[in-house]
Amino acid sequence: MLGSVVQVHLSLPRNTNDSALFTSPLIQLGRFFLVFMNILITGSAGFIGSSLSLKLLNRGDSVIGIDNHNDYYDPKLKELRLNRHIDHQNYIHCKIDISNEAEVNKVFETHKPDVVVNLAAQAGVRYSIENPLAYVETNITGFAHILEACRHNSVKHLVYASSSSVYGANTLMPFSIHQNVDHPLSLYAASKKSNELMAHTYSHLYNLPTTGLRFFTVYGPWGRPDMALFKFTKNIIAGEPIDVFNHGRHRRDFTYIDDIVEGVTRVIDKPATSNNCWKSDNPDPGSSTAPWRIYNIGNSQPVELMDYISAIEQSIGVKATINFLPLQPGDVPDTYANVDDLIEYFDYKPDTSVQTGVKNFVDWYLDYYKN
Ligand SMILES: NC(=O)c1ccc[n+]([C@@H]2O[C@H](COP(=O)([O-])OP(=O)(O)OC[C@H]3O[C@@H](n4cnc5c(N)ncnc54)[C@H](O)[C@@H]3O)[C@@H](O)[C@H]2O)c1
Repeated sequence: MLGSVVQVHLSLPRNTNDSALFTSPLIQLGRFFLVFMNILITGSAGFIGSSLSLKLLNRGDSVIGIDNHNDYYDPKLKELRLNRHIDHQNYIHCKIDISNEAEVNKVFETHKPDVVVNLAAQAGVRYSIENPLAYVETNITGFAHILEACRHNSVKHLVYASSSSVYGANTLMPFSIHQNVDHPLSLYAASKKSNELMAHTYSHLYNLPTTGLRFFTVYGPWGRPDMALFKFTKNIIAGEPIDVFNHGRHRRDFTYIDDIVEGVTRVIDKPATSNNCWKSDNPDPGSSTAPWRIYNIGNSQPVELMDYISAIEQSIGVKATINFLPLQPGDVPDTYANVDDLIEYFDYKPDTSVQTGVKNFVDWYLDYYKN
C-alpha cells in the first residue's frame, strides 16, 4: 500500500522500458492511480542502499542517491553496485559527504525529496574500537545535517537505519522495541541509539515523522567485505583458516537482503504516526506522542554461528579450517528480533532461510570473482 499522506508526485509511468507492463487494461487502470515518490537515499552505493534504490526505481519512484564512496572497504564494489542503477532515467547520483552541511542542503534544496532514507553510516562494531571519531563524524554530525535538511525542506517521512547492536548488554530474548536500550557496548551502537534520540526531538519539535529501523545482521549478494559471510567465503575458497570468535558460541538473527529491502519499502510507504495511548508516567520506549516509531527488522529465527558456517561449507562444497578465538570487545554474543510490531503495522515478516540466502551469496561471490 502506498502512503496516502505523501504528495502525489506523478501518476503515469515515466519509464518507457515499463511499456510491456501496460498491456492489460486492468494494470493500466491500476498504474494510473499509483503514487510515485521522490525518494532520497543516503548510502546509495552501499550494500542495503543500492538494493533499495534498485527496488524503488523498478516500482516507478524517482531516487536521489547520496554516497561519498569512502574506502572503509573496496570502493570498486560500491561502484559496481551503483552500475546496476546509475543510468536509470529516474536516478540521480550525488557523490557528497553527509558530514558536509552545505552539500547536504544543496541536494535537498535542488531535489526536494518527499521521503528520505538515511542509510549512510560508518558501519561495523569492530572498527569503532579502533576509529571512534569516524562514527561521530558520519553517524552523529552527518545525521544531524540530514535531520536539519528534512526539517527545512518539508520532508514527509524520514526513515533511518538503526541497528540490533543498540540492545547492547541486554540479554532478555527476543529483543523487543519495548525494552530500554541504555547500555550500548560500542560507540557504533551508541551512535545508532543517539540517532533514535535525535530523531525523537525532531518528531516532537517539528512534527517530522521519523521511523528508525533496527536491522539484524543483513547478508546476501553484493554484501559487505568486512562482514563474516564475506570473510568466511573468501578464506574457505582460498583454503585459508577462518577466525571464529567467542569459540563459535554466537547465535545471530541473520536477515536476508531482499527481506530487509521489502521491509524498508513497506515502512517508507507508511509514515510514522503518534501513539495516542503513550503514557508519560509509564513511557513505552518504542513509540511516543510524537510521530516517531522504532521497529526491529530481523528474521526472528536465530541461527547458531556453527550452523551458518555449515551452510557456507555446503554451498562451497569445502570444509572450513577453524581458528577458535575469544569474544571480541564490543561484540554482542546473541541477537534475536521480536518482530511483532513489524507484523502488526506492516503485515510483514522476513523469512528467507539461511540455507537459501547463503547459497545465493556464494553463487553471487563466485560469479563476482570469476576472473
Ligand atoms: N548490514 C548490516 O548487517 C547492518 C546491520 C545493522 C544496521 N546496519 C545499518 O544499515 C545502514 C546500511 O548498511 P550497509 O550494510 O549497507 O553498509 P555500507 O557500508 O555498505 O553502506 C553505507 C554507505 O554509506 C556511505 N557513507 C558512509 N559514510 C558516508 C558519509 N559521511 N557521507 C556519504 N556517504 C557515506 C558508504 O560509502 C557506503 O556506501 C548503515 O547505517 C548500517 O549502520 C547495517
